[in-house]
Amino acid sequence: MAAVGSLLVQCLSRSRLLNLKMTVSCVCSVGINITKGHQLMSQNILLSRLHTALFYSNMAPESSIGQIRRQAALGFKTGGDNYDAHRPSYTDESVDLIVSEIVATSEAAVGSGLKYDVLELGAGTGKLTERLCKKLPSHLKYLATEPSENFLEVLKSKGLNVDVAIATADRIPLADNTVGSVVCAQSFHWFSSKDNLDSIHRVLTPGGKLILIWNMKQFSHGWMAAFYKQREEVVKKIGGSMKDLVNSMEWRKDIDVSEDFKLLWHRSLPGINFQGNIEEILSNFTTVSAYQLLSAAERDAFIDQLREILKNWPGLDLNNITMPYTTELFVFIAQ
Ligand SMILES: C[S@@+](CC[C@H](N)C(=O)[O-])C[C@H]1O[C@@H](n2cnc3c(N)ncnc32)[C@H](O)[C@@H]1O
Repeated sequence: MAAVGSLLVQCLSRSRLLNLKMTVSCVCSVGINITKGHQLMSQNILLSRLHTALFYSNMAPESSIGQIRRQAALGFKTGGDNYDAHRPSYTDESVDLIVSEIVATSEAAVGSGLKYDVLELGAGTGKLTERLCKKLPSHLKYLATEPSENFLEVLKSKGLNVDVAIATADRIPLADNTVGSVVCAQSFHWFSSKDNLDSIHRVLTPGGKLILIWNMKQFSHGWMAAFYKQREEVVKKIGGSMKDLVNSMEWRKDIDVSEDFKLLWHRSLPGINFQGNIEEILSNFTTVSAYQLLSAAERDAFIDQLREILKNWPGLDLNNITMPYTTELFVFIAQ
């Protein structure tokens, strides 16, 4: 499949392309849009020019960075390899359910001019992408997007049959009504606001699906309750909010009252429990964005505390610890 970026080469003049590339690298080098004031203004001007040029050409850009919350921007900026190694994958049951929704939606939309059957937002290192790619019919077109260059590099290294683009949910680099299904794995809670819903709705074809999936840690279970208490402390330290934790269900606030989306179904399914020795369990926690925002010394101190909790937990086999997860799957239809 042709890389998204190569489409640009066909549609933009050489000098315009050079300008665009300079804009893109400028945007990338200042990082994600987390600063306020002058830099933000000039960056927004650059971005809106980039966006306008691209929308006129009706092509997907190499890079489209818009709004992203500070904790997500910094928490997923680096460490893609560690994230990929220490987060659980997705169950066959949940992947099969998602594949059926995507295929049915694309079949219903035949002839409506879809550019992509699947648009993945916040695709990260491609943990769900790789599972879906193995099961989806190979003729379906898939665009995996992600704001973190570092995470996207890990995804690209997997050599999947997908186009890729750096993008945030508010600046989806596609024309209106051109996507069958939008998939968000472990990510929608970072961009569930009304503005982002408008952006997602804009690209979805009428009757298109918004498919949300999370592997949810079961914090009520034994030693996990003690870990949850520490999470509260970490979040306080970084000036974050426990509302950002997917378990808070805060992400439902806007979509539940949206006239653009209707919930088709939700299933709570058995997840893939994360299993490992004490150090592997602790590595899973270093992939959490809140911990990434701590200084290395603070993070080490918090991880040491967790290590002590596990070491002193009665009856725990430190060579074989299970961290329990459920899988939560939601399918919304665009009205
Ligand atoms: C917990 S990771 C999930 C990654 C991957 N989908 C998975 O299943 O492992 C959340 C991802 O959402 C991305 N993200 C955060 N804010 C975003 C936004 N406003 N728009 C698009 N993606 C965003 C982050 O960069 C991060 O890669």
